[in-house]
Amino acid sequence: MHIESQRKDKSHVDSTANIGHIFKEIPDLLPAEIQRGLNTSIIGKTIKYYREVKSTNSIAASMADGVEDGTTIITEIQTRGRGRIGRTWISPRGGIWLSLVLKPKIPASRAYRLTIAAGLAAAKTIRTYKIDAKIKWPNDIIIGNKKVCGILTETKAEAEQIKYAIVGIGVDANIDTRLFPEEIRDSSTSLQTELDCAIDRVEFIKKLLTSFEYEYLRLYKQFPQILDEWRYFLATIGKRVQINNPSTTIYGKAIGVDREGALIIKCGDGFIERVVAGECIHASI
Ligand code: BTN
Repeated sequence: MHIESQRKDKSHVDSTANIGHIFKEIPDLLPAEIQRGLNTSIIGKTIKYYREVKSTNSIAASMADGVEDGTTIITEIQTRGRGRIGRTWISPRGGIWLSLVLKPKIPASRAYRLTIAAGLAAAKTIRTYKIDAKIKWPNDIIIGNKKVCGILTETKAEAEQIKYAIVGIGVDANIDTRLFPEEIRDSSTSLQTELDCAIDRVEFIKKLLTSFEYEYLRLYKQFPQILDEWRYFLATIGKRVQINNPSTTIYGKAIGVDREGALIIKCGDGFIERVVAGECIHASI
């Protein structure tokens, strides 16, 4: 769940007196459990597990040069989880906070493909729980109009080629949404809230890693198929949207995405805008 960076991370976790007994009921995400029966050949072959870190994306980046493709960093708690556009990502116990170290042989200009693959994998995984998860452009996984999962991709490139990419995925899994900070309580949800029961996080992670690997392996030759499936999950198309970028705000109707996943917007003055990044807000009317 994210809040704007200028607001302090008032992680409700530490400030809530009677939460301890809830935490004890959540089994840990031990790598051996996740790897038991995990049928992947790259993703999650190496898993590094931490009880608490600042940010799994930061840990992943610090070790990326020396680890193999698909190395997965998992933690129970992030004290400085990072979201897109410089936001804080609140990451209490009960969520799924993980980062994948990836070494794909693709140009840096195509790094967006990894985010799209991760968004598709996350949406498909959530749908296995019979939840109608959709994607809000560019890559928030939403249930109804509430966010349940976010993705942060960071890359290091050399000579236009990706040296490594870190794909960070945060899922509000077993989190009591009544404990969300007020500013995000109405715009976020959790799997536990939607299902009215806690999920098995180990099972979820196994599904997510398997689903991501499937997309990762077909990234080179079948990206148009990935994009088609991703487009099918997009809740944004046909909606009136506001796109906030550091330099501009664009209003209009989202009429499609192009073959690079950029959002095509028809503005009130009839102009067509192509947007590659930014915060997208769905208008309620
Ligand atoms: C977003 O703003 O929607 C992206 C949120 C990404 C959060 C995940 S949690 C695991 C990884 N580590 C981080 O610090 N951020 C990502």
